[in-house]
This record gives sequence, structure tokens and C-alpha cells, in this order.
Amino acid sequence: MRIDVLSLFPEFIGQSAEIGVVGRAIRRGLLSLRTWQIRDFASGVHRSVDDRPYGGGPGMVMMIDPLRQCLEAARADDSRPAHVLFMSPQGRPLSQKRLREWSLMPRLILVCGRYEGVDERFVEHCVDEQVSIGDYVLSGGELAAAVIVDALGRLRDGALGDPESARQDSFEDGLLDCPHYTRPPQHELGAVPEVLGSGDHAAIARWRRQQALGRTWLLRPDLIQRLQLSREDRRLLDA
Ligand code: ADE
Repeated sequence: MRIDVLSLFPEFIGQSAEIGVVGRAIRRGLLSLRTWQIRDFASGVHRSVDDRPYGGGPGMVMMIDPLRQCLEAARADDSRPAHVLFMSPQGRPLSQKRLREWSLMPRLILVCGRYEGVDERFVEHCVDEQVSIGDYVLSGGELAAAVIVDALGRLRDGALGDPESARQDSFEDGLLDCPHYTRPPQHELGAVPEVLGSGDHAAIARWRRQQALGRTWLLRPDLIQRLQLSREDRRLLDA
């Protein structure tokens, strides 16, 4: 999979993708990442990328043409079709389900806005989807793009040491993750739940499912409401 990120601060994305699981996915050739400086596509001596808002008001708005030319250059750099995402608080909330869908695509182009916004005509005509990483306003889309690159990087086959870890993540089955423990089993801060040391794999799986259900019910009742719980899940939740 290839991801291109269009930004006025491309170093930000480049650096955050050098480390950890994503850095490894890139070095192993499981993910290809290219960043683009939108300003390189601006014209005039000042290479302006923004202008005052039409109709007045505070701040600056990013102009269509540098964005559009940068996007076309990124598109033309690879023959595969690209799905274009624009990072914006007006976008659809990011979810693991959406990330799974994008992870099947050959190419994504992530566009990061800055300043007060981006000319709406660019968003209407050049973007396939707007994405928000939460109901708060960041000073630009770079952090949102870094979140998407990270979350997609770790979904690449071979990026994680054990492919099972991605499948057992929080949200993969619509639930929060169960608690995890490691050695020592006895500690001044508490003991590891006994069932985890029992060697009874069915009992351990049941306990984990029950914990995941219970935590989700307590902490994210909105997620539980969206799920079709099985009879067994209802029994575990009631127990
Ligand atoms: N740009 C500014 N705020 C954002 C948000 N919450 N999500 C995605 N992109 C953004």
C-alpha cells in the first residue's frame, strides 16, 4: 500500500513515521510513504498558499490551485488509483472499521489543511472523503494524517511481531480490549486474575470476552448499543 501526504509541514509526517511499528513497516517495504510540500506548487515570488477569506472575517484560507496542483503531482507519481482523504473537524469520525476498509486500497492520498480552512471548492471537487479524528480543533491536519498513517501501518501484514495482535485489538470486534497482565503474578499492587494461570484456554477466552464486554458496557455504552450481542455474550454480561 502507498500513502502520500500533502502538507505545509511534511517533515512532521516524515519524522513521526520513522519510528516504531510504522518505521519497521516502511523499512520492510510493507508500506510506502511519500510526503509533498504544498508550497512547492504555489506560484509567484512569495509562493503564497493562502489568502484572506472572501466575505471578510479573521484568519486565512488555503487557496485551491497550490493544493490542486500538488494533488495532481502526487496522483501522477503512481499509476494506481488513489482515494483522497481530507483531514478536517467537519469529517466523518475515524474508526477502526474505516481503517480496515482503507487498508484494502492500493493508494491513499491524505491532504492536510492549515490556517482557518481550505477553499470549499477544493474539498467539493477534489476530495473523496473528509475525516475527523475527534470533536476538537487542531491547528492543522498533520496530526490527524500521522494518526492514520500509524493505524494503517500497524495493520500491514508482517508489521506486527504477531499478526494475531492486530486481530485482538480494541475495536476490532466492536468492543474495548480486555485487561492484560505479565509477570510477576503476585505483586504489591495486586495479583494476576487466577484464571489466566489456569492453562484452561476456553475459560481464559471466556474471561477475556467477559472483561471486554463489561468494560465496554461501563466505559462506552454507545459501542454496546451498536452491537448484536449473542446469547452467550448476554449471559457473560449478566454474570
Ligand atoms: N484538522 C483540524 N482539526 C482536525 C480534527 N479534529 N480532525 C482532523 N483534522 C483536523
